[in-house]
Amino acid sequence: MKMHLDEKIWLIISFGMIIGFMLFTGYQTFVLGMGPPSHMETIDPQKVDETAPFDNPGVYQIGEKEYEVVMILEVFRFQPGEIEIPVGSTVHFTMTSKDVVHGFQVADTNLNAMVMPGHIQKISQTFHEPGEYLVLCNEYCGTGHQFMATTITVK
Ligand code: CUA
Repeated sequence: MKMHLDEKIWLIISFGMIIGFMLFTGYQTFVLGMGPPSHMETIDPQKVDETAPFDNPGVYQIGEKEYEVVMILEVFRFQPGEIEIPVGSTVHFTMTSKDVVHGFQVADTNLNAMVMPGHIQKISQTFHEPGEYLVLCNEYCGTGHQFMATTITVK
């Protein structure tokens, strides 16, 4: 096969970049521990209401300034909604969906998770600033998607 020098150079550069990115991603994941959280806990989406802890969704204090929120997402609501926590609290969200894929995004924070039926999603956040945080579903989940919202009040 006859190949121009230019082609060879570009092939070497592009393969070099691919290898470089793979090495870099591997370094970030395995050496720096920057991989995304991967909770492989599963749940039967038909039996969410009967399965602990989702048989009792709510806000639970688990330590000083530490809370767990057990949350169910379903068309088109967050349960519990209207959450209130004291300022400075670290909140561990344990979530699942009863029907379709929903999103859990909290404005002005880094909280942003996809919540899938059959899977348990866990994500944590410390709320240092008081305020009313808007919680939105950011995965299109049906005709009422745009109404799927609630608030977390920090005070
Ligand atoms: Cu739930 Cu969109």
